[in-house]
Amino acid sequence: MTDSAIAVSGLRKAFGDKTVLDGIDLDVREGTVFSLLGPNGAGKTTTVNVLTTLMKADGGTARVAGHDVATEAKAVRAAIGVTGQFAAVDELLTGQENLQLMVDLSPVSAKEGKRIVTELLERFELTESAKKPASTYSGGMRRKLDLAMTLVGEPRIIFLDEPTTGLDPRSRRTMWSIIRELVAEGTTVFLTTQYLEEADQLADRVAVLDQGRLVAQGTPDELKRQIPGTHVRLRFTTAAELDAAARVLADSARDDEALTLRVAGDGGTRSLRALLDRLDEYSLSAEEFSVHTPDLDDVFLALTGHTAEVEAK
Ligand SMILES: Nc1ncnc2c1ncn2[C@@H]1O[C@H](COP(=O)(O)OP(=O)(O)O)[C@@H](O)[C@H]1O
Ligand SMILES: [Mg+2]
Repeated sequence: MTDSAIAVSGLRKAFGDKTVLDGIDLDVREGTVFSLLGPNGAGKTTTVNVLTTLMKADGGTARVAGHDVATEAKAVRAAIGVTGQFAAVDELLTGQENLQLMVDLSPVSAKEGKRIVTELLERFELTESAKKPASTYSGGMRRKLDLAMTLVGEPRIIFLDEPTTGLDPRSRRTMWSIIRELVAEGTTVFLTTQYLEEADQLADRVAVLDQGRLVAQGTPDELKRQIPGTHVRLRFTTAAELDAAARVLADSARDDEALTLRVAGDGGTRSLRALLDRLDEYSLSAEEFSVHTPDLDDVFLALTGHTAEVEAK
């Protein structure tokens, strides 16, 4: 036995002549949260589909819970739970009935099943709505029910494909604390997200996926170390002003779309004054000025040359 919950090597997948996964290598330790971070269309769901045996890869190998996803799909499925971006919830059934359905499909006894349903409804704050049809649930409630349904079979490894995309902040926090509880119980979590903060908050390790390739892998802190440190961000109102400022501040990095200029510095008053004096000297002024300590957004920009633009669903 290995202590890798998920081990992936050289994974490839194309749709027609469009390469979606271009040789992915991953190793997820048991009992940890691994986050696959990337913008829309990066290949996150495709990765999850291959690892959960819903889709066949074109090349490479993947083992989940010690089993080959291509040749031992049944054993893989017995060890995992999957919560998709598009919920498996039956709209016509109540929350309780949806959970009961999962219990009926699992090997647990009727008595044990009843206890599990009650417990899950409580844990996910769904007890009050348990007898209402899922069609009346909010997006956040539906996600929670979907995850609760996944947990009925007590899977060792859980795949969460963008579990909080489009959720309000409160539901997102509830989801985060549920994920933390699961990990505390020893479950391995494979989480995809477009939210840099989410990966930063939850993950032991993060892999950054960009157009089918992993552009970086490490702890959130390791990734942050790969990028420039503290810097000042200046935002201008016109491209002409941005141009002029970029010429004056030679060591800066510009973002033409956001009309911003990033200037490395320690954030101290002395360097800030020098920077502002220099702009003054050329009669330039920024519309917005902020001192910025690096976050995962900067990691993305540094690694891929573009931001991880989040499309709200
Ligand atoms: N079944 C499919 N047929 C053709 N193209 C697909 C299919 N599934 C996904 N794609 C394409 O593969 C790319 C990656 O998709 P996906 O894995 O869903 O990305 P993500 O989940 O990161 O948003 C996208 O360009 C998408 O349009
Ligand atoms: Mg997706």
